[in-house]
Amino acid sequence: MLGLKKLQWTLGIICLIGAMFAYRQMNSVFESEVPTLSLRQWWGEDAEPEDWAAYVKNSSQVVTNRLMFPDSTIDELRQRLNRTLRLTESMTPDFRNGFNSQELLKIVDYWRDKYMPRWREREVFMWQFNHFTTEIQGLRMHFLHLMIYDENKVGKHHYPVLLLHGWPSSIREFYPLMHKLQQTHLDKNNPYIFDVVVPSIPGFAWSEGTSRKGLGPAQVAVIMRNLMLRLGYKKFFIQGGGFGSVIGSHMATLFPENILGYHSNLCTVFTGRSVMKGILNAIKPNFFFRHGFEEMFPHWEAIKRLIEETGYYHLQATKPDTIGAVLSDNPVGLAAYILEKWSSLTNKYYKDSSNGGLRKRFKLDTLLDNVMIYYLTDSITTSSRLFAEHHSPEQRALHMDSVPTDVPTGCARFKHDLIHFHDNQLKDKYRNLIHSTFYKDGGHFVALEMPKLLHADFIEFVKKVEKFSKL
Ligand SMILES: *[C@@H]1O[C@H](CO)[C@@H](O)[C@H](O)[C@H]1NC(C)=O
Ligand SMILES: *[C@@H]1O[C@H](CO)[C@@H](O)[C@H](O)[C@H]1NC(C)=O
Repeated sequence: MLGLKKLQWTLGIICLIGAMFAYRQMNSVFESEVPTLSLRQWWGEDAEPEDWAAYVKNSSQVVTNRLMFPDSTIDELRQRLNRTLRLTESMTPDFRNGFNSQELLKIVDYWRDKYMPRWREREVFMWQFNHFTTEIQGLRMHFLHLMIYDENKVGKHHYPVLLLHGWPSSIREFYPLMHKLQQTHLDKNNPYIFDVVVPSIPGFAWSEGTSRKGLGPAQVAVIMRNLMLRLGYKKFFIQGGGFGSVIGSHMATLFPENILGYHSNLCTVFTGRSVMKGILNAIKPNFFFRHGFEEMFPHWEAIKRLIEETGYYHLQATKPDTIGAVLSDNPVGLAAYILEKWSSLTNKYYKDSSNGGLRKRFKLDTLLDNVMIYYLTDSITTSSRLFAEHHSPEQRALHMDSVPTDVPTGCARFKHDLIHFHDNQLKDKYRNLIHSTFYKDGGHFVALEMPKLLHADFIEFVKKVEKFSKL
């Protein structure tokens, strides 16, 4: 009897060791090589310059740029917002069928009569940070640049940080976080001074889109890295959410030598293995989950919400020009489309309220600033194309999520964001996931919604990176 038990145990242990070994081997089977991307791929409207060195020399100046719009454009928008709106009345007094028509009428009234007369003030507000443009790989890139000139730099740790926004967002989302970063050194416990660079992603706002195919997040990562090098930043931190998170991840993957640390409020790893682990996590949550993370596993409700709230994603990943045709030159439709996301992605319960909860965490002026940026720069089509490029066969062939990176990584999860990945899924890619947090509040646009919390989380991450990398 005893012998049989022993045999069972021995077999069990051998199987376990075998399984562990096989699992480790899976790493090498499923991992991909770092792809080689051209660092000077041409995206410009004109023909590619023959003499690259001359082109760079000629086009690399960085200029201060207050990108203004003529009075005629502003007046025209006011008039367009003054047309009688023929909206079909919503069936229920909430956002469950999408943007509520009564609320949309109220927002358009406010926009036309309260916001538009103050547009020049809004411009001045947005100029509180310096705007610049420079040309990279044939495209005009726009960015905010915050440099701290502090006499007391001695004894302070001075780091550049790149903030990357997503869709349908813009540089505007980062204003409060920029203030927090600017004031970091005022807190005695945080001996940091940050230079902050906040670019508009190509095709968003004042950063030119391309008419050439193939500018996906990996190629955007190249442009962003070239921008940072142009500004003289060879080593820097990244913070990003939404598409900014994808681009930041690709930068950490392609250019580990330039990235001190990658911090994201939407860490994702879309590989077969990660999805398998997600399913296992759901079946056996207690085994995988540290205390406090129970809400994260993909139970049915979370999957249902993901399907319900990502129709736009599928549309833009397949037919960006159709939705572009619907929305460009249509300010009211554009506002409904963009603001509905700010409602539904900020809190899963906001769709139940008559005003979409939009004003609970945001000022309407701030939300309209963001809509204005999309409208005035006519960037809804070019920004939507990023989804299609993200899912193109060429982009998928790069297998970016299967390429591991050793760049120190920090992942902050916020309760109401669309999707959450657990550490055991993320570690396949982010081998040095040194910071992992989950907050029972906050949504997709957390930089604007909870800048204090995001700032604190980021600072905690920077401290861990300093220890880890012995900076
Ligand atoms: C440099 O800039 C000038 C003036 O903008 C332009 O005429 C010239 O063709 C440019 N040269 C190159 C090599 O791009
Ligand atoms: C909107 O139209 C009304 C009536 O025609 C007019 O009195 C008002 O001045 C207009 N407002 C704007 C902002 O154009």
